[in-house]
Amino acid sequence: MSEYHAPVLVEEVVRLLAPERGGLFLDGTVGGGGHSEAILRAGEDAGARVIGVDRDPEALEEAGERLSEHGARFEARLGNFADEAERLESELAGALLDLGVSSHQIDAPERGFSFRPGSPLDMRMGQRAESWTAADVLNGYEEDELVRVLREYGEEPRARPIARRVVSRRGARPFRTSDDLKEVLDEVYGRGLTSQDQARIYQALRIEVNRELEALDRALEALRERLSPGGVLAVIAYHSLEDRRVKNAFREWSRACVCPPELPVCACRGAPLGETLTRKPVRPAEEEVERNPRSRSARLRAWRKAA
Ligand SMILES: C[S@@+](CC[C@H](N)C(=O)[O-])C[C@H]1O[C@@H](n2cnc3c(N)ncnc32)[C@H](O)[C@@H]1O
Repeated sequence: MSEYHAPVLVEEVVRLLAPERGGLFLDGTVGGGGHSEAILRAGEDAGARVIGVDRDPEALEEAGERLSEHGARFEARLGNFADEAERLESELAGALLDLGVSSHQIDAPERGFSFRPGSPLDMRMGQRAESWTAADVLNGYEEDELVRVLREYGEEPRARPIARRVVSRRGARPFRTSDDLKEVLDEVYGRGLTSQDQARIYQALRIEVNRELEALDRALEALRERLSPGGVLAVIAYHSLEDRRVKNAFREWSRACVCPPELPVCACRGAPLGETLTRKPVRPAEEEVERNPRSRSARLRAWRKAA
């Protein structure tokens, strides 16, 4: 198992993407290259190729090294998967988005994704690529904006009191590290503060800093367009905000009729754009969760474009 990141639901992803058909695959979140490697191996006889995208230069370096033995069948690209999907001109046999952050990113204290004491409030996946850090959000956003971020992206019940305290504190003592944020959360939650509470706040800040949901929405549309007939899009989500978007998009694209609901009879005579391959999200087996506890919340969905 790679120390950089243990890929989740690998066999299931390969089964759904079926790289033995050959063609070009886009791995929009190449990370340490675990899924890409499995796709390249399963598609070897058919000459399948993979473009691996990541906004984190460290990930691309890791994946590039790991996958160098596949030569020209693997190409690494630095960037946001939404931009890459929109500018891609070739047709795709399949695409994968394995959302969120890698174990390597979580475990590197200087990246600020974990609430380990003394970590800088950074959370940029692409480091230099995104200008705002989590500290900038806390030090710069108006109270109402902070409330929106915490509520929408963290489903945080105490969003208002947290935002109020952030704003009243930062003039005298700006936010720099996880300790500064913890002080505010301790004030609001008292001794009852749990790691789940902290995880919600961190999730909200991370989504805002990296504009994660906006990238997902753009990428889903663009990848659907780029798929060749019979091509498959697979997405692994780690929280309900992402999974809901994927589920709704796949459901919408699989509908035959796209008439407005108030129309008494169907006037569009439309055909579905494709079919959802996973009636329910695929979850990791107990054995995988035991081996890799970070896989616990993974939910894999896949959709196939009509042939
Ligand atoms: C869960 S990890 C992927 C792990 C990978 N599947 C593997 O096998 O190692 C998610 C990766 O996606 C990257 N990422 C997240 N959002 C992105 C985006 N919008 N564009 C490009 N890369 C993104 C992160 O930097 C991270 O390296």
